[in-house]
Amino acid sequence: MGETISTFSPETAAAASIDARERTLALVADLRDELLDVPLLQTINPILWEIGHVASFTEFWMLRHLHGFAPIIENADALYDSAKVAHDTRWTLALPSRVQTIDFMHRQLERTLAHWTDDERHQYFTALSIFHEDMHGEALLYTRQTLRYPYPRLETLALPDTVQRVEGDAYVPGGRYWIGARAGDGFVFDNEKWAHEVELGAFSIARRPVTTTEFAAFVEDGGYRRDELWSRAGLAWRRSAGAQHPTYWRRTASGWERRRFDRYVALREREPVVHVNAYEAEAYCVWAQRRLPTEAEWEAAAAGPARRRYPWGDTAWAPDLANLDGRYGDVCDVDAFADVASPFGCTQMLGNVWEWTASAFEPYPGFAPDPYREYSQPWFSTHRALRGGAWSTRARMISNRWRNFYLPHRVDIFTGFRTCAIE
Ligand SMILES: [Fe+2]
Repeated sequence: MGETISTFSPETAAAASIDARERTLALVADLRDELLDVPLLQTINPILWEIGHVASFTEFWMLRHLHGFAPIIENADALYDSAKVAHDTRWTLALPSRVQTIDFMHRQLERTLAHWTDDERHQYFTALSIFHEDMHGEALLYTRQTLRYPYPRLETLALPDTVQRVEGDAYVPGGRYWIGARAGDGFVFDNEKWAHEVELGAFSIARRPVTTTEFAAFVEDGGYRRDELWSRAGLAWRRSAGAQHPTYWRRTASGWERRRFDRYVALREREPVVHVNAYEAEAYCVWAQRRLPTEAEWEAAAAGPARRRYPWGDTAWAPDLANLDGRYGDVCDVDAFADVASPFGCTQMLGNVWEWTASAFEPYPGFAPDPYREYSQPWFSTHRALRGGAWSTRARMISNRWRNFYLPHRVDIFTGFRTCAIE
C-alpha cells in the first residue's frame, strides 16, 4: 500500500489505544445529559455522534477493513461515516443512547486489541486510528469552548515558570530546504508526502508568538475599524461577524478578559493571543508592518537544515519541552520553554497555540490520497495551513512536518500566530 510503518509492539499499541480512548471518554464524562444536546453549528458535532464516530472509524479500519468483520452496530455507516452522513444530518439521526454508545466503544476497543497483529497494515491503521481519535479529542475541547462548557475533569500541571523574556526575530538564511516527510519517518499522513526541496529567500521570523498585549495595542489603535488593514475576505468576515475585538474577549473596568471555557479570565500580559482567525492575524500583520510566514518558511524555521523532527531535536516530547497534550490545560506565557529552541532560535514552535500561515493548504508535488481518502483531498485550496499544535494537541501526533488545515474564519480553534519581518 506504500504506507510507512510505525513501530508499535502489541503492548504499546494497546497502551496507546487505551490511552486515546480514556481521553475521549474523560472529555465527555462530566457532561450532564442535557449538555449532550448541542445546537446545530457548522464548527461542532453532536457529542454522542462524535464519540461514536471515533469508535466506528477505528472499527472500520482495524476490524472491517483488515479482518472483514461485520460491523458491531448494523447500520454503523449510516450513522457514523463522516463522508456519507452530511454535517447537518448528524443532528437528525436516531443515535444510540450514551450508555449504548459507550458500550459500543468498549466492545470495539476490546475486539481491536484482541485481533491486533504485528504486521505493516496493523501498524499503519493503528496509528491512523489513534491520531484520528486524538484529533477528535481536540475537537471536543473546541466544542466545549464554543458552548461555554467547563473545562473537563482532566488533571493539569501548574503553568510553567518563566525566567527570561523571549523577544526579537530569528534569522533564517536563504537557500534550499527540505519540506515534508521522508520514507523512514514512521507513520505519515498523505498530505506530508513526500519530502521535496524548496528555495527560500532569507527571512526573519519572530522567536515567539504574538502576545495579547501586542494584539490589544492593535485593537486599541482602531484595528477593527480601519478597513484598509483588512483583506477583502477579512473585511467581509469582520462585517458579518460584527467583530470589534477577538471573539472571546470582553472589556472590563480593569482591562481585557478572555473567555476560557465557561469563565472569563484576565488576559495575562505575556500570554499568546489565541482564538483569532487568519483574517484577524493578517490585519494585525498589516498594522504591525509584518507578515505571516509561509508554510515552508515555518517548517524551515522549526526543523532547520538537519530536518529535526521536533524543534528541540529528535527525542520524544516531555512536559518540560513544550505545552502539549493538554497537560497544562491552557496557553502558557510566550516566555515559557525559552531554552527549548529550534536550530534558528525560535521557541514554542510546537505547542501552546496553533499558528496560522500565509499558505493555502495545498497538496505537495506528486500527492496521492492514502486509504482514508477524505482526510486531505477534499480540503485542498479552500483551507488554510496551520502549523505547530496547541496546548490541546496530543504530543504523540505533532511534529515539525505536521500540517493542519482549517477555513480561515475559524476562531474556535486554539490558534494564534507569529510574524515575519517584511524585507
Ligand atoms: Fe473523523
